[in-house]
Amino acid sequence: MSELCVIGSGYVGLVTGTCFADLGNHVILVDIDERKVSMLQDGKMPIYEPGLAEMVQRNTVAGRMRFTTCYSEGLKGAEFVFICVGTPSGVDGEADLQYVRSAAQTIAETMDHPLIIINKSTVPVGTGDWTREIIERNQPQPIDFAVVSCPEFLREGSALADFMQPDRTVLGSSDPAAAETVAELYAPLDAPIVITDIRTAEMIKYASNAFLATRISFINEISIICERLGADVEEVARGMGFDKRIGPHFLQAGLGFGGSCFPKDVKALANMAQTHGMHPQLLNAVMEINAFQRRQITLKAREMLGGSLNGKTVAILGLAFKQNTDDTRESPALTVARSLLNQGATVKAYDPVAMENACGEAPALIPCDNSYSAAKDAEALLVLTPWNEFKQLDMRRIHQSMKRPILIDGRNMYNPDELRSLGFEYRGVGRGYNGEGLIAADDEQTA
Ligand code: UDX
Repeated sequence: MSELCVIGSGYVGLVTGTCFADLGNHVILVDIDERKVSMLQDGKMPIYEPGLAEMVQRNTVAGRMRFTTCYSEGLKGAEFVFICVGTPSGVDGEADLQYVRSAAQTIAETMDHPLIIINKSTVPVGTGDWTREIIERNQPQPIDFAVVSCPEFLREGSALADFMQPDRTVLGSSDPAAAETVAELYAPLDAPIVITDIRTAEMIKYASNAFLATRISFINEISIICERLGADVEEVARGMGFDKRIGPHFLQAGLGFGGSCFPKDVKALANMAQTHGMHPQLLNAVMEINAFQRRQITLKAREMLGGSLNGKTVAILGLAFKQNTDDTRESPALTVARSLLNQGATVKAYDPVAMENACGEAPALIPCDNSYSAAKDAEALLVLTPWNEFKQLDMRRIHQSMKRPILIDGRNMYNPDELRSLGFEYRGVGRGYNGEGLIAADDEQTA
């Protein structure tokens, strides 16, 4: 059993702290946001993540986990301090390190015994060394400490399982003994541990996310070609995935990637390359394809509705950036929603858990209680987030209630033949539609 302090109760901090408590450690979570801390003290979750509330409750009741706004309370008796604060995108896509800086400064000013400081926030290569300098500069008197980079790979929606069964743990440090000590903390997870230097660890995180984003943009580019040439990208991806060198994962064509990580991390990596005099051609193309993919959906809707969206009623199912989360940050579905609204459409929308976040970001959306009320009287239905419940819908009922049965399947969730046989005018992504003129007709501004 170890004593841990986790700074930041966002996705990464909350999941890391809770899972370490569940593994039997004592964890204090520190957040400067009083509202969040008092929510957590009352057993309320600031984020939606399946299974998290129960796990927090179990560990709080067992006395292994508590929450505070006070650094000195958090650091008292801690052996390990995890920095899990946000690193949003700055003006040019660079990671904004103000929260890492202030966490490091406060740790330096508050610590009164040796610590191993582990950074889990996604930070530009070199930030570990910079953190060490900040701490050294801000300590009132020198106290021994080590900085270890331990990038986080968890996915929203499956964060607890990703933490408990990781593919690997990466630890980077200039102090091999400190990295070994952190490795012991991770040993119960029974996954390979890669111990390396701190800059390499930081790069592993960016390279992994950029590679996954590249796979998505790759299959999306293939989807456009499939659509024009009469092939089905779903079958193409399946056929490719059996090749062990390729594998089946992250080959789902659709609206492109969103969320709090991929868009920000690809941009930040490209920015790092650019500021060091390089031209990141592939990363730029990945981002360009991703933006293009979102526009395609609006263009399809416009084309199928006779060339204009003005005055049309369109329904959207799914607003979160992916299923099983209420997160709408960089959500492709919201980009499409805004674009439809900008072009004069009335947009009815339903998402199982992201309505509040989505309507906060796009107040002109008309919120609906369920998929059926969203689809009722709509002239087109756009399915934009692959929630499981959308697979189970009574499509006959939907078809009968719509003013015009246009269905745009932005995530290829349905069987095109079945829907066409029910009378839908169906269009998926990369599924053999010979859509002449679609790509060239893009004259709109999307957010
Ligand atoms: C991602 C990484 O997977 C994770 O390792 C990292 O720590 C944080 O970023 P997350 O953003 O939660 O996790 O979502 P993920 O499940 O990876 O999906 C990212 C986006 O790509 C979503 O918008 C998803 O819909 C999209 N996606 C994913 C596709 O369009 N096609 C795919 O085949 C896979």
